[in-house]
Amino acid sequence: MSEQTPHFIAPKNVIIIGAGVVGLGIAWRLAQRGVEVTVFDKGCAGAGASHAAAGMLAACVEAEPGEEALVALGRTSQAQWPDFATELERVTGISVDLRREGILMIALTADDQARLHHHLEFQRSLDLPLEWIGAAELRRREPHLGSTLAGAVYSPQDHQVDNRKLVTALRAAAEGAGATIREHQSVRAIVIAGDRACGVALADGTEVAADAVVLAAGAWSRTIEGLAPALRPPVRPLKGQAIALQMDPAAPLIRHVCWAPGVYMVPRNDGRLILGATVEEKGFDPNLTAGGVLALLEAAWRAVPAVEELPIAEMWVGHRPGSRDDAPILGPSAVPGLTYATGHHRNGILLAPVTANFIARAVVDGVVAPAIAAFVVDRFMPAQAAE
Ligand code: GLY
Repeated sequence: MSEQTPHFIAPKNVIIIGAGVVGLGIAWRLAQRGVEVTVFDKGCAGAGASHAAAGMLAACVEAEPGEEALVALGRTSQAQWPDFATELERVTGISVDLRREGILMIALTADDQARLHHHLEFQRSLDLPLEWIGAAELRRREPHLGSTLAGAVYSPQDHQVDNRKLVTALRAAAEGAGATIREHQSVRAIVIAGDRACGVALADGTEVAADAVVLAAGAWSRTIEGLAPALRPPVRPLKGQAIALQMDPAAPLIRHVCWAPGVYMVPRNDGRLILGATVEEKGFDPNLTAGGVLALLEAAWRAVPAVEELPIAEMWVGHRPGSRDDAPILGPSAVPGLTYATGHHRNGILLAPVTANFIARAVVDGVVAPAIAAFVVDRFMPAQAAE
């Protein structure tokens, strides 16, 4: 059974720093529990990584050795996604386009095939429901794939949502439940009094008091002042460039989310085909680059040659919040009254339900659910700093 966090006081009002899908989801759940919630964002709600994401719920295909706990968290969240989407749709009337075709990891060459088979052995050791399909079956499922094709790993339980619709729906749900969202109001610092978080200081100098604070500022989480540097969550920006091509929605070139060497391709209901994404250690660099765009287009064209004719609808840059071990930082911090929900790296959309549900519980009840116990910030803290 979970134990209550030390120094826990049930909060009546909570400030959340960051109005991405993580902050909005927590705000929704807290407001449903009767807590007075205010969410601050330095820009428009959901305009950061939540807007830039591709919306894949890819707990199985993205499973990597050494990330077994993260895979388990992703699977828990994946299982929560259908109810989360249904509830969001019911309370807001906004569909988030949860699509359940599954994901294909495509091998173009024998070399790709050998690599995927090797990885499949590891994925199966975690009991992930993945299967190999041959080239003929793959072509039957996706007829527009190019002539060079070796087969694919099919993941029937990895799905996608439209992350931009998700932002709209979560915002409506949070506000509908009573949360206040204050956009273009940058939080400069977390205010700490008597060793306890008791509000935030805005960039204009205003201080706003609260019983508890949740830091959900994504890649910007480490820039918020008020904590000693050793206590700040170790999160950095990981730049990603992405492109949307426009397909005919009535005749899309692909119907599954498809990963091919060097690119993933995510078909949307409106005909957009998202191509993503680079992973770059370039800080908050906002620039699209010729090399990044070329690499994505070339990789997509090798897998689906007919993309050559598609108009480009949009290109953008986002910044994933990457922690030192690529896993999120969830739950209580070393400062009573301050909870972390950051560092979601490639998995912010996938982990939105589990984060909203369990962080709201941690804030309101002071209980760290077993599902998130492995993700508290203590794992990064030197013993003396965490005391
Ligand atoms: N989750 C996909 C990405 O981070 O590019």
